[in-house]
Amino acid sequence: MDFEDIETVAVLGAGNMGHGIAEVAALAGYEVRMRDIKEEFVQNGYDNIEWSLNKLAEKDQLSDEEAEEALERVTALVDVEAAVGDADVVIEAVPEKMEIKKDVYTDVEEHAPEDAIFATNTSSLSITELSEVTERPEQFCGMHFFNPPVRMQLVEVISGEHTSEETLETIEQLAEDFDKTPVRVRKDSPGFIVNRILVPLMNEACWLVHDGVATIAEVDSTTKFDMGLPMGSFELSDQVGNDVGLHVLEYMHEVLGEPYAPCPLLEEKVEKEQLGKKTGEGFYDYE
Ligand code: CAA
Repeated sequence: MDFEDIETVAVLGAGNMGHGIAEVAALAGYEVRMRDIKEEFVQNGYDNIEWSLNKLAEKDQLSDEEAEEALERVTALVDVEAAVGDADVVIEAVPEKMEIKKDVYTDVEEHAPEDAIFATNTSSLSITELSEVTERPEQFCGMHFFNPPVRMQLVEVISGEHTSEETLETIEQLAEDFDKTPVRVRKDSPGFIVNRILVPLMNEACWLVHDGVATIAEVDSTTKFDMGLPMGSFELSDQVGNDVGLHVLEYMHEVLGEPYAPCPLLEEKVEKEQLGKKTGEGFYDYE
């Protein structure tokens, strides 16, 4: 698939990342099919896109007309065949579990055009392993956005062992057309570049509080004000989703070993369903 031929982008998953990626693609002028497994999930994703576009318009980062046109380019649906049947690129942003993603690719492979590229927004999982459940491993790569996609500039473009150079170049061009800055990750390794650095930072912040060295507010004030990061470590964990951070860590721990063992404080948050902003409660309260 050549970049010039891309018109329609399917986004699988309408959650935090999926709806944000769909919004970014629609803003760049693409026809977008956003798919999730339940009507309620796709509606929620669609409402979030509408909220975000209105917010950008309110702040004069878009005209009202541009916001309306972008929303009109998004079709939200549950039917997988309708979602990917005419897609040139399929960007998958379903939950961060290897088995769930593999099932999705097995299903999608049946309905997507043969020349469509599959790009996974996985935060850490093996691109090579995922690509091998499809019949197009050379047309398969990572395309990893950051939360919130509409505000974050970077996109990691990750090569699996079978990914062709042509696929990587097409997805890099697509990321640029989305008004993002792609960075190529040359080797398929857990957490790629950003999460390999950022997720252990969030985990380490948890250990500091767990071990009684400092409070959440004290840790966050140092990361935010002294280390110059835009958010404190716990604020960031709540933004990303404590469950997402934990899944990334569990996978890094499994593949890379002991230094990545998740802190019980983080595990506890996930057990209690205190997942961050998306559930209204995490390390901070958002109600
Ligand atoms: N769409 C539109 N507006 C949005 C929005 C969205 N999706 N999300 C937040 N906003 C709005 C807020 O509602 C708020 O609006 P009001 O001013 O009306 O209250 C406003 O944006 C806040 O924006 P500001 O520019 O004033 O705030 P800021 O300068 O703090 O920027 C930020 C916000 C861009 C999120 C910034 O804090 C930041 O860069 N944080 C770090 C985020 C980050 O590192 N993300 C990557 C995490 S790692 C990851 O995602 C990978 C993974 O796989 C786990």
